[in-house]
Amino acid sequence: CYLHAFASSILRTYDMPCEVKARFLLLYGSQRGQAQAIAEELAEQAAEHGLVADVFCLSKKEKYNLEKETAPVVFVVSTTGDGDPPDTATAFVRKIKKRTLPRDYFSHLHYAVLALGDTNYANFCNCGKTIDNRLQELGATHFYSTGYADDGVGLELVVEPWIEGVWGAIKKAIAEMATPGQQDSVSTSTLYNTDHNTASKENTEASGLDLSLGSLALKDQAPAPTLELPVSTSEVETRAPELEAEPAILEASLARSLPPLSESALNVPALPPPFLNVSLEDASAQELIGPVLQGHHQEVSISRAVQLTRDDAVKTAIMIELDISGKDIPYQPGDSFDILCPNNSAEVQELLQRLNLEMQSHHCVQLELRKDTTKKAAQLPPYVPVGCTLLYLLTWCLEIRSVPKKAFLRALVDSTEASLDKRRLQELCSKQGSADYNRFIRDANVCLLDLLRAFPSCNPPLSLLVEHLPRLQPRPYSAASSNQRHPGKVHFVFNIVEFPACPGRLVARRGVCTGWLAQLVSPILQAYGSTQGPVAMLGTGPLPKIHMGLRPGNSFRLPSDSSLPVVMVGPGTGVAPFIGFLQQREKERETNPDGCFGETWLFFGCRHKDRDFLFREELERFAGSGTLTHLRVCFSRDAAEGTEAPSSPRYVQHGLLLHAKEVTSALLKDGGCLYVCGDAKNMAKDVNDTLIDMITEETRVDKLQAMKTLASLREEKRYLQDIWG
Ligand code: 2AM
Repeated sequence: CYLHAFASSILRTYDMPCEVKARFLLLYGSQRGQAQAIAEELAEQAAEHGLVADVFCLSKKEKYNLEKETAPVVFVVSTTGDGDPPDTATAFVRKIKKRTLPRDYFSHLHYAVLALGDTNYANFCNCGKTIDNRLQELGATHFYSTGYADDGVGLELVVEPWIEGVWGAIKKAIAEMATPGQQDSVSTSTLYNTDHNTASKENTEASGLDLSLGSLALKDQAPAPTLELPVSTSEVETRAPELEAEPAILEASLARSLPPLSESALNVPALPPPFLNVSLEDASAQELIGPVLQGHHQEVSISRAVQLTRDDAVKTAIMIELDISGKDIPYQPGDSFDILCPNNSAEVQELLQRLNLEMQSHHCVQLELRKDTTKKAAQLPPYVPVGCTLLYLLTWCLEIRSVPKKAFLRALVDSTEASLDKRRLQELCSKQGSADYNRFIRDANVCLLDLLRAFPSCNPPLSLLVEHLPRLQPRPYSAASSNQRHPGKVHFVFNIVEFPACPGRLVARRGVCTGWLAQLVSPILQAYGSTQGPVAMLGTGPLPKIHMGLRPGNSFRLPSDSSLPVVMVGPGTGVAPFIGFLQQREKERETNPDGCFGETWLFFGCRHKDRDFLFREELERFAGSGTLTHLRVCFSRDAAEGTEAPSSPRYVQHGLLLHAKEVTSALLKDGGCLYVCGDAKNMAKDVNDTLIDMITEETRVDKLQAMKTLASLREEKRYLQDIWG
């Protein structure tokens, strides 16, 4: 394999006499495309550093062979769920975890890991850490420190400096691997097996031929920074403050006028060449209706909608019932499903207008890879159906609300005429502009339309949108029902997400999916009042339909042994899966009255007893019948406003503390299960901290030991989270 690389590097020498490129292997494991995008970006940048990357998804095991790999290997891997590997990396992780592998299995391997994760979720960067630890155990050597990038505060904070440093490290590793005698960071025992010895000899000769490799490595000693950044609360806070300043001042802050400055002074990253040609054909395309469906997606009707909160509640929560009778959707309480939603039609229209494409909205979109593209692994976006219209593309395929990445801003510079607009865009995507980018773009949840409003002279071609806007993603929701209690139906609950205007973004708006759902069911809510749900829109026309699909691989389930205690923590709409659990329990108790059922605790929290106590009647019924043995509700604003007794707990974690002894004993002595559902940013973290305090106090151990106890509960799948934010 190395010989092959060597031969091809010589061939390349003939093609391009001055440029010999050294190869490395780049493997990614991606769930939602971020790791893949970063790997592709790396592969693209490689050429500028005299390198060439073989880039593969970890799942394509036939394309690479780590057992025989002699070039440095870079892994870019994300983490999903409860710290699980992305689907595309599961088999790889399973393979390297095999106990039968000998300790020196990867002793020839030199590698670096860029781990992606989100500190709002448990087990930050777990997949990257697992791969890293296991490779170490199997004798592999780091040639560069592991980067831990946090999506909670912006991946780029770590990804950018990590990438900056990796090039020198790769070149140094290549040089060292070519001349093993000179290495300093590489272990000297059993470094090469016989095959590798041959390869390294060839390589030494290769570096004799190609002096640029060795000298580059000497020139460019890579630093090995520790890239796990501390998370400060100010960085975590992403919700922008409510509108306070004058709109005109706010607009000026995003599109702030600045004196012209040269691009080099701003150190703007290089623009990757475009890889797509997008044209519009005036052929009468057959208009597709609805989203691009995958195998498990199905069309279902909305059979009921209920507003669960009073009109004077701060947030509006809605419960929707879907009719899934006759469909193959075998869900269980605790499962989640995806809803496929379109972009907001007014925003799509505004975008069409702004791009001057209104008249072509029904034209066919033609996508073609550019012949001259240098983007490795460039491919047509598979989520854009052949022959769809422009209107369809913007409505169902592209996430037009996504926060533009710096690379997108960089690309927009070239489509912008006014020098001041150009200048500001350049600044926002430059290193110097990072703080402004974070404040006015990332934290303000700015989208392409906001940018086009703020920079009137920016007129990007459609191809830029297709290249830079990610795929419109389905939105996950937890089932809030049991099919035993509601045969042929599934319920889910959501708050209408509101984004108030803020610096950087002048308009208030609703979440894409929740705004759309609220609009869809508003005739039902209006026809039937806000608290009493209709059975259906009787006589008022067809029921609205949506597309959904069950998400696979869920472990958020009641214990199979119903005698075990269950502790549920779910403030706000986080109560959803527990309604399903309790409906199931209620049914089990009815069918098996002599059965042995463990204690059930629910810690629910809302602001006001009278305004947003979701599922109040149902929860009180569960408590009355004994299905729920302990219902503890914390009213945060009633408590703060003094309408509750001063001793009343404000938040769910305060409720937990009041029952520390019983809860700790249910979990640690009686083998119970703990479930936490809801906001990841604050609630889940605070609850976790409280649990550590409770275990410390109740079992008289130190904090570290308490953390270990909690970690083992997690391992045993007895501490499960379904959190978002
Ligand atoms: P608040 O909005 O009054 O602060 C559901 O959203 C409930 O969760 C509300 O009562 C909300 O209270 C509460 N909540 C907010 N932050 C929380 C946190 N860090 N931990 C637990 N509950 C929280």
